[in-house]
Amino acid sequence: MTIDSLKLSKRLQAIYDIVPQSNVLADIGSDHALLPIALVLSGKVTRAYASEINEGPYEATVKNIAKYGVSNYVSAVLSDGLSNLEKDVNTVSICGMGGSLIVDILDRNKAKLDNVDTLVLGPNNNEETVRIWLMNNGFEIAFEKIVEEDGHFYEIIKACKGFKAYTRDELFFGPVLLREKNEAFIRKWSNQRDHLLKVMNNINDKKSSNYCMLELMVNLINKNI
Ligand SMILES: C[S@@+](CC[C@H](N)C(=O)[O-])C[C@H]1O[C@@H](n2cnc3c(N)ncnc32)[C@H](O)[C@@H]1O
Repeated sequence: MTIDSLKLSKRLQAIYDIVPQSNVLADIGSDHALLPIALVLSGKVTRAYASEINEGPYEATVKNIAKYGVSNYVSAVLSDGLSNLEKDVNTVSICGMGGSLIVDILDRNKAKLDNVDTLVLGPNNNEETVRIWLMNNGFEIAFEKIVEEDGHFYEIIKACKGFKAYTRDELFFGPVLLREKNEAFIRKWSNQRDHLLKVMNNINDKKSSNYCMLELMVNLINKNI
């Protein structure tokens, strides 16, 4: 099997694109392991670990590593988060799960990140929680992108070692995304605002804390798009 036979989804392709060249990568929560397999097949990454906590996805990882003939370059690891991260790893990717789970994985084994210079993160939600963790733990946001696939907006974040303080709005919307304000950004937040306005319409008590909270959120979005 070659790279030509491996078709990444739009979201995984965007994640693939931001992984730096010539690194040893650990993909945590790898499942099908398509990301590390594509990275070694193209030569973008020299070696990779595909790490899984659950037996089922781990078996899919092992199967795909064999199917694409990359067992000399990609090692399957059955492990919880970063707990067995090897010292040669300098890029960690954690994608396709909730932002709170990503933060939990990072935070429980922070010390393991000493040799890691780049994090590539793809939270499905709670992106703000991820950015707050990065800011508080010596990672600077280097790149962000919104990918629209199957009616869902995915934010991907690349962070490198460094210290930078972000404003509340930057943490919520993403410092790079907010600066660029591209079409996908406007679409994502216009959709979200319209959804919130519909929810507000169905609340009778316009003085309730719930209504006021949603109103604040709508104003925050309007101020930034
Ligand atoms: C939806 S899949 C995402 C697969 C792939 N990373 C992607 O973006 O397409 C999430 C995977 O994370 C794994 N996972 C959840 N918690 C984990 C942990 N603490 N350590 C390693 N893997 C974990 C799950 O077993 C699941 O296979």
